[in-house]
Amino acid sequence: MERPITVPSIRACKGKKRLVMVTAYDAPTTRWSETAGADMLLVGDSLAMVVLGHETTLSVTLDEMLHHTKAVTRTRTRALVVGDLPFGTYQVSVERTLEAGIRFLKEALVDAVKLEGLWPDRVEGLVRAGVPVMGHLGLTPQAIRTMGGYKVQGRTFEDAQNLVTAAIRLEEAGCFALVLEGVPAEVASVITEALSIPTIGIGAGIDCDGQVLVVHDLLGVSPQPLPRFVTPYAQVSEVAVEALRRWMEDVRTCQVPSEKQSYHLSAETASKWREAHSEA
Ligand code: KIV
Repeated sequence: MERPITVPSIRACKGKKRLVMVTAYDAPTTRWSETAGADMLLVGDSLAMVVLGHETTLSVTLDEMLHHTKAVTRTRTRALVVGDLPFGTYQVSVERTLEAGIRFLKEALVDAVKLEGLWPDRVEGLVRAGVPVMGHLGLTPQAIRTMGGYKVQGRTFEDAQNLVTAAIRLEEAGCFALVLEGVPAEVASVITEALSIPTIGIGAGIDCDGQVLVVHDLLGVSPQPLPRFVTPYAQVSEVAVEALRRWMEDVRTCQVPSEKQSYHLSAETASKWREAHSEA
């Protein structure tokens, strides 16, 4: 069996091997992504939108995240699993952050947690407690109300420079990797050069050390329109609807269950059964 991927092994990939991360929320998405060879599985708070039907990521709770994360860690065999700290679990205090991070490791058995934005004291606290942290800068969906929508960040010279400074600060605080989302490619490239930890891009150009996508977007499960950085590699929703439509048609026209799909009594019991239940 291949050895499990660890936090130090992810760090060691910097400059040597491009990393692949996808989101996973349950046993099937974990199985598919691991079989395909994912290095890391992110139980993203995108769970709120792509699985639970919320409009934003703000509504998902820590208990909901832990529930889904447990399904992922129960199923994975090798990939590193990162749990996303949902909105409200790390903004209040270092203590609350530690409580949430420790629950992820203790109850949901993740390898690391991720948090959005520049919170170096939270990162330091978690790392000191033994909870590895992946950072996340740029378009941070939990800040949707502040950003006024899902908008690319770091477009002006000053904003871009602030992103570089924030990235360096997060590495200093102890992050082992950094997601860069919705950032101009030139800015992500400079950040990637400046850091000795891997950057994982999503809408951040080609120069990041790895890439991440939401699995439902990648497989064509999410409704359109999708962000420009996503090209679905399959149309799973179409395949699913077509299969369901065919089965429903077969039920309505008495094609299923077929004889082969049905269970039968033994010949002896069947004969007794017929006798007992015949009309005559
Ligand atoms: O929640 C999520 O799926 C994420 C990725 C898009 C990076 O944070």
